[in-house]
Order: sequence, then C-alpha cells, then structure tokens
Amino acid sequence: YLLRACMLAGLPAVLAACEGRQSALDAAGAAARDILVTGWALFVGGTVIFLAVMGLALYAALARPERFPGRLSWVVGGGLLFPVVTLTALQIHEFGLARRLAVLAPDPALVVEVTGVMWWWDVRYHADGADPVRGANEIVLPAGRPVELRVTSADVIHSFWVPSLAGKIDMIPGHVNRLPVVAERPGLYRGQCAEYCGAQHALMAFDVRVLPAGEFDAWLAARRRPPPEPATPELARGRDAFFAVGCHACHAVHGTAADGLVGPDLSGIGARPSLAAGTLPNRVETIAAWIQAAQHIKPESRMPSFDVMDGDTLHAMAAWLESLK
Ligand code: CUA
Repeated sequence: YLLRACMLAGLPAVLAACEGRQSALDAAGAAARDILVTGWALFVGGTVIFLAVMGLALYAALARPERFPGRLSWVVGGGLLFPVVTLTALQIHEFGLARRLAVLAPDPALVVEVTGVMWWWDVRYHADGADPVRGANEIVLPAGRPVELRVTSADVIHSFWVPSLAGKIDMIPGHVNRLPVVAERPGLYRGQCAEYCGAQHALMAFDVRVLPAGEFDAWLAARRRPPPEPATPELARGRDAFFAVGCHACHAVHGTAADGLVGPDLSGIGARPSLAAGTLPNRVETIAAWIQAAQHIKPESRMPSFDVMDGDTLHAMAAWLESLK
C-alpha cells in the first residue's frame, strides 16, 4: 500500500518534470514526435508483455502441471511465434522511422553548421547565398521552416541533441552529419552534448531560440550589421578594455576589429539566454564573474581567468558585452 501510494503521489510530479525546455516527452518538432510515439508504443507494449509473462510464470509455478493444458502450444506460440512476429513488425517500423528522420529537404532555405568544441558550440548560418553569419552556444531557428543542420567536431566526438526537436546525432571530427529539423512553434529549447567528451561534458549545453519566421529574418539581418557605437562613456570604456586586454585575439564581434576564431563568437551575446555553453544565466554580473573566474566556474576550459582587472573596468567590459544585442 505504501509503495503504491508513493507511486501514485510521485508519478504526476515525475511526469510534470518531463515538460519543458529539454524533454523528449515534450515534442515541438515532427521528428521528436515520431520518436516520442515510438517510445510510448515500446513502453506500453513492453509493460503489457512483461505483466503477461509474469502472470503466466506465476500461474505455471502455482498450478499443478497436469492442470496446465496445451503446454507445447504455449511454448511454440508464446516463445517462438509471438516474439518473431512482434520483433519483425517493430524492425520494419524502425526502418521506416529511421528513413523518415533522415529525409533532407532538397533545397533548404537555411543551413546551420554546428561544430562541437571542448566545451562549447560554434554556429554558422548559411542563408540566401550571402556570407555566413557566425554565432555560438545558441541556435536561432525560424518556426515552421525546414532547416538542415550540418554537425561536426573540431576535436573529440560530441553528440548533438535537442530532445524537444529531433533525435540525437554524433558530431565526429573530419565528418559532417546532416540532420533535418522543423521546429513547429516558437519557444526556448535546450540542447545538451550527449557523448562524454572530457572534464566539462556536463557543462556543454546550448539554447535553441525558435522565432516566428518573420522575426527570424529580422534577427539574421541584424546579425549582419555592425553593433551600434557605445551609448555611454562606461560602455565605450568597456569596449576599449575588451581590446586592451586582448579578448579579440580569441573572440570575434562582427562589425568590429575583433575577429578571433579560437573562442566563441560574441556578436549579439547580450541577447543570448545563457553564457559559457548553458553554464550561467546571462546578466552583466554573470558576464563579469565569467571573465574573472572562468577557470573556477569551468576548470580546464580554454578561457583563462582574467582576475587582475579592477572592478570598474571589469564591470564596464561586461556591460559593453551585454549591450551587444
Ligand atoms: Cu561534448 Cu560531451
């Protein structure tokens, strides 16, 4: 009784936890829904078969053998025919599912290249034949439009997974895997590296922002323009400090002299929901904390801790970065 009461009390809470930004049980794309339906069918079917087998085993253990009629037909039917038919049907379904999930749009309006790097995500948008737009640790997508993701890795094997949108796919150095995605509705989703890739594997996440298609076009156009001049003397000081400290050697900010390729692109970083590949919420204070103590927050990442700057300079630099939207 106690166990059953706990299960009844706990189940809604467990299922409630399955909703949200990163959940295979909360599908926001056709591919994710296809996988979800298959998952439920396997779960329900497996549960029914498990209960039937346990019931029969119990019956066989308790009943005297002579009262268990047709033993041979049970063995042939339940032990041979049923599994062969069921597993063959499932296999055929899986072939169809795998094929459907891999169908690429012949001429996608948007191709997003995503490269896994220990431990962040380099993102490039190819659209309209124009120069690619670079970003990092966030993928912005238009709702309702077919997009092709081309994923690869710059170092070790990572795995790209946004459970709400599509299945998981490996990111392999020297090889490009292609994943078609259609996000059905605007929203904020979360992706996570799903292949152990070193010390900070757990802190290798990203946000997927799905915008209405028109807003996405405006966003992409804005990313092609240089950022506005700093609006206050503090922001100007922050920008100057960014270059004086040498951040631009590793990081790029489109439309400025910063064009480093080693670290994440920082263009429009102020609009991103999170920092350092899903590690921190994005605010002026957390940007400052990250710059000052990156090795404390994410040890072994390639971002050094810049802990010799005075507080005002640090804050100004963080405020300038946060103003890039
Ligand atoms: Cu990248 Cu785990």
